[in-house]
This record gives sequence, C-alpha cells and structure tokens, in this order.
Amino acid sequence: MLMARQSTVTIKSPEEQAIMREAGRLTADVLDMIAPFVVPGVSTDELDRRCHDYIVNVQRAVPAPLNYKGFPKSICTSVNHVVCHGIPGDKRLKAGDVVNVDVTVIHDGFHGDSSRMFMVGKCPVQAERLSRIAHEAMWEGIRQVRPGARLGDIGHAVQRHAESHGYSIVREYCGHGIGRVFHEDPQVLHYGEPGTGLELLPGMTFTIEPMVNAGKRHVKLLPDGWTVVTKDHSLSAQWEHTVLVTAGGVEILTLGAADRAAT
Ligand code: MF3
Ligand code: CO
Ligand code: CO
Repeated sequence: MLMARQSTVTIKSPEEQAIMREAGRLTADVLDMIAPFVVPGVSTDELDRRCHDYIVNVQRAVPAPLNYKGFPKSICTSVNHVVCHGIPGDKRLKAGDVVNVDVTVIHDGFHGDSSRMFMVGKCPVQAERLSRIAHEAMWEGIRQVRPGARLGDIGHAVQRHAESHGYSIVREYCGHGIGRVFHEDPQVLHYGEPGTGLELLPGMTFTIEPMVNAGKRHVKLLPDGWTVVTKDHSLSAQWEHTVLVTAGGVEILTLGAADRAAT
C-alpha cells in the first residue's frame, strides 16, 4: 500500500494568529511606505534600500528574502516581463514601466508576505488592464476561502478570471502556507478543479499570489538563478496577500491602510 505523503500543514493557535496579524500588518506598512517612491527615475536598488532600512530600523523586524537560499536583497522587484523574484539593481524605472514589489517581513518569528503592482508614471492601457485583472483574480481566490472549501476552489476561481479575459496563469510558481516557515505546506496553485485538493480548516495561513501573463503562460529562469521572465516576453502582473482561515471565512492579514479603512 502506498502511504500518503505526511501532511505538514500547520494550524496556528489564537496566540500565533495574533503574531501573524502583526507580521501581516508590518508587511502592508512597508508597501504603503514605499508606494510614493515608485516614480520615474528611481532605481530598484533605492526601493530595496528604503524597504530594508524601514523594516530593520523602524519596525525592528527582519526582511525575510535577504540571504534566503542566497537571495541577495531584501525585497523582490519584478519589472514588466519579469514574472517574479526580480533582484533589485541599479536600473532606473521609467514612465510606462510596471513593477511588482514583493515584501516579506519576519516579526516575532512569524512571516507576513504581500506584493502589489505599481504603475510608474502614465502606463499603457494594456498594462493597467493586466494589473487590474490580476488583482481581481487574486480577490476571486480570496473570496473562496472558508472552512470546508478546498484548495482547488481557489485555484479554479483565480484561473477562470484570468483566462476569461484572455490572459494566462503561470504554473511553475504558486502560493504557499506561511508561518514560522517562509514557504511551508500547502502549495496553493492558481489553477485547478473545484471540489478537489486539501480541505481548509480554521487556523490555516497561506498566501494567494497569482502571476498573470498577457501572453502565453510559459516562463524561463535567467542565469542569475532567480529572475523569472515570460518566455514570449509578454507583460506579467502579480498581487499577493497572506490570509487566515477563520471560523466565519477569511481574514486578510496584509491589507494596507486604505483597505483596512474601507472595511
Ligand atoms: N516573496 C516571494 C513569495 O511570495 C518569495 C521570494 S523568495 C526570494 O513567495 F528569495 F526571492 F526573496
Ligand atoms: Co509568497
Ligand atoms: Co511574496
């Protein structure tokens, strides 16, 4: 008989949930802080430095990406056809660029992980539309989260939204459980079949972070070992939240100040 692989999905206690809530809040605060600096002429290194200094000196927290499996910077900055894991550098952003800034903070031993798209100056309408549909796709996934739902419900909702607008979903990278460990079980695919996969239980925490391509879904890893780009060089967009499954449904741990005020 085949043994099922040991499931290591952690359920966070109320005390752990409270720390995750703070870690998520700090993560969102970094994204709120950096937003006004994402303008034409800024280098992605400067965005990295500002986030690093804010996390370390103001928040007294830890930027999780720094030295994670050898990653050299404190945030990921993924510009235009870069899908994810872009390494900040001396290249300057120019008007019309779109950039995903991905922030992961460790607070009191627990991680918060969130990313947003930023439009640099005035952007082409197709870039605005891709970003908007990727954002909506993430929210379609979040809307599925409640006890008794399954991971396949999330993946299906995300995929349906993106593909119904003529876009494609990257399959090689996915959302993930998160807690004391940056990337823990389960894997949260952004495609799938409703009613399949792991059943959600209160106290689970994971990310939903779809990567949506304007062209084909296929990606390629650059020789730096990190930067993931679209194979056809089409634009790519990504949004990410960390969520907690609650008895009543879902709590989004990484809402920014504007979204917190709106709820
Ligand atoms: N923050 C990314 C995620 O959403 C992971 C970045 S790993 C790094 O899972 F090493 F590239 F920073
Ligand atoms: Co993540
Ligand atoms: Co992230």
